[in-house]
Amino acid sequence: MRRSPGAGSGDWAQGLRPVTRTRAEARQAYDRASRWYRHVEEPFERRARGVGLVLLRVQPGERVLEVGSGAGGALVALARAVGPAGRVVGLDLSPRMISRATVRASRAGMADRVELVVGDATSIPCADASFDASFTAFTLELFDTPEILLVLAECRRVLRPGGRVAVVSLSRSDPVGWPTRLYERLHDRFPATLDCRPIHPRLALEAAGFEHVRSRTIPLWGLRAEAVVAVRPAASRSVADAALGQGTDDVPDQGADGRPGPSALTPNPAPARQPAPPRGVLRGLLNLPVHLYHAHLSGLLGHRFLLLVHTGRRTGARRETVLEVVHYDPVAGEAVVAAGWGRRTQWLHNVEAGLAREVWIGRERFVPAYRMLAADEAERIFADYERRNRLIAPLVRAVVSRLVGWRYDGTPAARRRVVEQLPLVAFRPEASG
Ligand SMILES: C[S@@+](CC[C@H](N)C(=O)[O-])C[C@H]1O[C@@H](n2cnc3c(N)ncnc32)[C@H](O)[C@@H]1O
Repeated sequence: MRRSPGAGSGDWAQGLRPVTRTRAEARQAYDRASRWYRHVEEPFERRARGVGLVLLRVQPGERVLEVGSGAGGALVALARAVGPAGRVVGLDLSPRMISRATVRASRAGMADRVELVVGDATSIPCADASFDASFTAFTLELFDTPEILLVLAECRRVLRPGGRVAVVSLSRSDPVGWPTRLYERLHDRFPATLDCRPIHPRLALEAAGFEHVRSRTIPLWGLRAEAVVAVRPAASRSVADAALGQGTDDVPDQGADGRPGPSALTPNPAPARQPAPPRGVLRGLLNLPVHLYHAHLSGLLGHRFLLLVHTGRRTGARRETVLEVVHYDPVAGEAVVAAGWGRRTQWLHNVEAGLAREVWIGRERFVPAYRMLAADEAERIFADYERRNRLIAPLVRAVVSRLVGWRYDGTPAARRRVVEQLPLVAFRPEASG
């Protein structure tokens, strides 16, 4: 049965293990694995990958994107399918995987129709509607739960209306058998080695607003893989479009840019919509504290606020944003802030694109490393923030309600929903690791 976009998506995140690995750690791990990946790992997953390719039915002349192209196992098959008139772009976080795949495509005589790009799937460096199809195998399950829909929203953005997406991944669909549970326990224990964890790809695609979702389950060495194919809706504004927001560029700080709004990202989306980031006079007013930092008066703000200096992804311009510090750890020198406009927060996209330049906090300035907080930690930190601000609890709740677009009542379930909707990000000096 097909569900309408965005509907019934409350269960796509159910039971998923959090992912705490940073991008830098993932890149390093796959750079290392690139030497043996083709011969050791690829063969185990070949069958499931093949089912995904069959479901995608790539046609001659098509433009296809592979997200997480790895050592190029599927890339060559895709290049053959598009033929000499088509084009395949492989995107991967790991430069060494990209090198391996480049050599492989070239040896297969496909170099002229394949382009390989180092990049992050949460911010695909390709134009809107520039592909007919998108393929991803054993990669979506590497992203932390709030990022899964972000990656799918990016796939959707770069697909033309009516374009197809195929996702192959480990499956957590019901019934979850003991091999899956055992694997998850091993994953909990050795997350760096068994980094893929089972997810719900079909439900996630539905939640991300894809239509005509079809899936097949493939046994995988006692576990199950799922190959799912779906279509980007042809109508320009579906229910999910409304939730995903509009716009294309990084406006000075937090403008809308067509990335998923919180109602598309939360496991339990509400009909309410998160307000758009402010523009014009209001944005100017909110940015007034920037001047305190430039007037060397940042001591007045202590560790309650920080100034984030970042670079616009598309404009390359310098951006400065003052953010309230939700939690400060003086020992680690780590400051946690919330992305107040959820996944439409521009500074967050710039940070995730590796464009955070400096953090000014108190009297210090440093080049930051960042990490996204997993939901459990974020919930704890947010509860602590509320405790510290209990005298103004009604105000805090009113502001949070305004940011999330629904009434926040301070219950644990609502708090969980808030931190899933408004990601918490920790900055610390890069040199401190
Ligand atoms: C498990 S491998 C799968 C590779 C390939 N799809 C296959 O089936 O053989 C996951 C791949 O995703 C890449 N990856 C991990 N995180 C990524 C990210 N944030 N953006 C793009 N690629 C990523 C890794 O570098 C790795 O090559």
